[in-house]
Amino acid sequence: MSPLRCYENSLKRHRNPNNEERNMLIIHPILQSVTTLLALYVLLLGAGRFRRLHLRQRSLFKWQRHVWLGTVTLLLWFFGLVFGLVMVKVYWHGFFITGNHGKRLVIFLPLLLFGLISGWYMHTHKKKRIILPLIHGSANLLLIILALLQAKTGWQVYKDFVLGQ
Ligand code: HEM
Ligand code: HEM
Repeated sequence: MSPLRCYENSLKRHRNPNNEERNMLIIHPILQSVTTLLALYVLLLGAGRFRRLHLRQRSLFKWQRHVWLGTVTLLLWFFGLVFGLVMVKVYWHGFFITGNHGKRLVIFLPLLLFGLISGWYMHTHKKKRIILPLIHGSANLLLIILALLQAKTGWQVYKDFVLGQ
C-alpha cells in the first residue's frame, strides 16, 4: 500500500474513535477552553494596571493574584498544547495533521514564553516602568486572540476528526 493510502486509511479509521479514545481526545479542547476563560480574567486584572500606568486613572491592581493566576494560565496553556500534540501522535500517528490549528504553535509558543519571562522579570525586579508592561500586556492580549481563533479551528477539528461529522 502506498504511504499516502496508508495515511488516508489511518485517518478514516480514526474518524470513528471508540469511547476510550474520545474520552482522551476531549481533554485538550476542554483544558484549553477553560484556560482561555482564566486568561480573560487575568487580562481583566492587568487592565487595572493599564489604566493606572497609561490612562493615569485611579484603579486597583491585584499584583500577586495577577502574577499567580497569570503563571497558572500560561503553564496550563503550555501543558494543554503538549497534550494535544501527544494525542495526535498517539491516535493519528503524526504531527501537525490538524493543519493550521496545530501549526499556529509556531506563533503561540514564543509569545507564551515571552509572557512568562517578561512577567516574572517585572515581578522580581520591581521598578517604575511604562514600555515593558505595555509590550507584556500586548503580547498576552495577542495570545488570547490566538486562543480564541484556536477554539474556532479546534471545534472544526473536533467535529471532523473526533465526532466524524
Ligand atoms: C494570560 C496571561 C497574562 C495577561 C493577559 C497579562 C496581562 C497584563 C496586562 C494587560 C498588564 C498591564 C500592562 C500595562 O500596564 O501596560 C500586565 C502587567 C503585569 N503583568 Fe501580566 N499578564 C499575564 C501574565 C503574567 C504573568 C505570568 C506574570 C508574572 C509572572 C505577569 C506579571 C505582570 C506584572 C508584574 C505586571 C505589572 C508590571 C508593572 O507595572 O511594572 N503577567 N499584565
Ligand atoms: C490555546 C489554544 C490552543 C492551542 C495552542 C492548541 C494547540 C493544539 C496543537 C499544537 C495540537 C496538535 C495538532 C497536530 O499535531 O496536528 C492540537 C490538537 C487538537 N486541538 Fe487544539 N489548541 C488550542 C485550543 C483548542 C480548542 C479550544 C479546541 C476545541 C474547541 C481544540 C481542539 C483540538 C483537537 C480536537 C485536537 C486533536 C487532538 C485532541 O483532541 O487532543 N484546541 N491543538
